[in-house]
Amino acid sequence: MPTRRTARAVVNVDLPGPQISRHLYGHFAEHLGRCIYGGFYVGPDSDIPNEAGIRLDVVEALRALNIPNLRWPGGCFADEYHWKDGIGPKDERPTMINTNWGDVEENNHFGTHEFMALCELLGAEPYVNGNVGSGTVREMSEWVEYLTRDGDNPMVRLRRANGREAPWRVPFWGIGNEAWGCGGNMRAEHYADLARRYATYCRDQAGNKLYRIAAGAHDRDYAWTEALMKALNPLGCTNRPRGYYQGISLHYYTLAGPWHAKGSATDFTEDDYYRTLAAARAMDEILAGHSRVMDCYDSGAQVGLVVDEWGTWWDVEPGTNPGFLFQQNTLRDALVASVTFDIFHQHARRVVMANIAQTVNVLQAMLLTEGNQLVRTPTYHVFEMNKGHQDAHNLSVHLSTEGTSRAYGEGELRGELETLSVSASVKDGDLLVSLTNLDAGEPVTVNFDLRGGVVADLTGRILTAAAIDGHNRPGEPDAVVPASFDGFTVADREAGAFGVGLTVELPPHSFVTLAGRVG
Ligand code: AHR
Repeated sequence: MPTRRTARAVVNVDLPGPQISRHLYGHFAEHLGRCIYGGFYVGPDSDIPNEAGIRLDVVEALRALNIPNLRWPGGCFADEYHWKDGIGPKDERPTMINTNWGDVEENNHFGTHEFMALCELLGAEPYVNGNVGSGTVREMSEWVEYLTRDGDNPMVRLRRANGREAPWRVPFWGIGNEAWGCGGNMRAEHYADLARRYATYCRDQAGNKLYRIAAGAHDRDYAWTEALMKALNPLGCTNRPRGYYQGISLHYYTLAGPWHAKGSATDFTEDDYYRTLAAARAMDEILAGHSRVMDCYDSGAQVGLVVDEWGTWWDVEPGTNPGFLFQQNTLRDALVASVTFDIFHQHARRVVMANIAQTVNVLQAMLLTEGNQLVRTPTYHVFEMNKGHQDAHNLSVHLSTEGTSRAYGEGELRGELETLSVSASVKDGDLLVSLTNLDAGEPVTVNFDLRGGVVADLTGRILTAAAIDGHNRPGEPDAVVPASFDGFTVADREAGAFGVGLTVELPPHSFVTLAGRVG
């Protein structure tokens, strides 16, 4: 007889922890496949409703997520991108070959002005990623001036000649990308010196303060993180790292297998599913490892960890360009996102920003487009259901689980996955609890003890599907959408007891949010 899966969760609603930066819900748009062209940008002459070429259905869908920031133009593309090719009259802009992604010709019709217009339409803050790999210090420094400087000087005159009078506000600046790989195949110490040098000339202009982000490690490359931290605080003996750059990035992708056989986005076994979720949960141990290294050189957590590429990476959809990284997105992807957010919330002291790769038509996208059709993926719905965590304060969830782990695979591929994941936050008296049951076939009962306050007006929402590979597609865009959820009961408490008992019955493979008021 199967054991009843139950767990106990204790949350002190009156003891808020670190703030969950809204920037953990950031996005990434690269000149890759159909992310920019066809995804965000269709050109002003398109039949698809647009504003100066930017798709309005995409803007409307993303505005509902309150997306806080958008990283652009790459990725690997950033280290081949020369920004002056993307300004001025479109028919005079030089073209280039996008050697990283499909070897296709890039016409530079989407450039600096178009990106800034997109951010304004989205209400998102721009995160511009500069070119270290094949660019110069001067080129990067002039880009900062072009965007953010005021007065009467060469870059400002150029910007004005291109139709923009006032400087823009650009809070986030990337100093190259994946410098250990497509960004120049550098060694860590060499890149660390370059990051200090480039950052020196990316100056704060009046009224604009840059948060400079050095190109960090991937996965468990803790030595890379250490080299970047040492470059700010050589002996680690002061708690005041130098401020050449304020953040260090980290890239971690979730795969179910090796890079040469990543598997299908939609056609996978239950073992593949569990292996994927185990890989997603490894984010916790990876963030802890990088944070430990950073703590040695920066005990006060002044330097932020910026996970500016994360998400699932599958084999491309059959028949599509292998360089375009177009993949479908199922409930499995959505649950990768929900457990990853729980992990980000728990690391909110050090992790200040994260950007899922990528927003439209590439990797773990929010939106898929086909001609004039637009599909919201299951992952999109997790971002929407979780948006109340943005800028809220994390509440520690003390979980004691019983039989909620699941063994999968065989032989060397055998593993064990904890299938329950929970996080909670509070903001101005608004409580949001997110719960994920990763078990493919069994429900789980979670008995909450919400201590230190009175919780009222709870409402629930659920995202699930008949099967773990449920997904949305053109013609069937609403197969996997949130529904209201009433699978919870609030226990009566003795008069005078301060706190609330709450029991939640989570169906298999589901993501649930409960929202209420704390008094
Ligand atoms: O997101 C796709 C690619 O993955 C990015 O261009 C690169 O930075 C990473 O390797």
